[in-house]
Amino acid sequence: MLTVSPRDRPFILTGAGVSAESGIPTFRGVGGFWRNYRIEDVASPQAWRRDRRLVWEFYSMRRRLASTARPNPAHFALTRLSRDLPRLFLCTQNVDDLHEQAGSRDLVHMHGELFKSRCDSCNRPPFEDTNLYEPPAEIPRCGCGGWIRPHICWFGEVPFELDRVYHALDRCTLFVAIGTSGTVEPAASFVARVFGRVRSVYLGPEEPANASCFTECHVGKAGEILPGLFAIGG
Ligand code: OAD
Repeated sequence: MLTVSPRDRPFILTGAGVSAESGIPTFRGVGGFWRNYRIEDVASPQAWRRDRRLVWEFYSMRRRLASTARPNPAHFALTRLSRDLPRLFLCTQNVDDLHEQAGSRDLVHMHGELFKSRCDSCNRPPFEDTNLYEPPAEIPRCGCGGWIRPHICWFGEVPFELDRVYHALDRCTLFVAIGTSGTVEPAASFVARVFGRVRSVYLGPEEPANASCFTECHVGKAGEILPGLFAIGG
């Protein structure tokens, strides 16, 4: 049990594991996306230049999967927690919208959002988009002539809102990571940044690659453990 107070500033980092119980595959586990697709084929700027249709096939498939997914008890527990702890900072590597569906607001999607697209050339802001761009449909173009791409941070690109993320990390009074393998930077190093300063807690069915940086690991499924993990104190 983690006792926290409304004065605390918990930094919560979520990964694919928090959505696993909603039926969305993780990346590296059994049945994970990277067991069936190669990152360099579908999730890099080079892949986009080489084969835009294959990239859209991958993200259209993920849109289809995520569109029927509903939040699980872990997403709802985090929403309740953020109501009790107004200074809580929620940062997700996930591109699905399950935190929002559960009622969470003002979170950071550091790897982008599955249901948004943007132009690959101009500064037009990202826009809501639930289309499935699959062959033989044409890849849509922006008015400027650029191609419309998923609003996703690919390998080799810089994650979103890192200034806000590091500002929150450096002020947090507790660090909690849930359902992330601790293998993808920069998120994998967030716990090292707070090491020795605040309590750091991992929650997932197995220890992550960066387990040695955490002060404690709670082994189990997020949907089962998270709803009872926190106690609100004075
Ligand atoms: P991974 O697939 O690497 O790791 C998922 C983690 O979730 C594993 O450590 C599992 O043990 C854990 N897990 C599985 N079921 C769980 C459950 N029910 N409750 C809690 N944990 C569970 O996914 P991420 O670490 O999120 O980036 O991957 C990080 C990034 O790598 C992703 O955002 C994505 C990927 O490539 C991009 O696409 C840019």
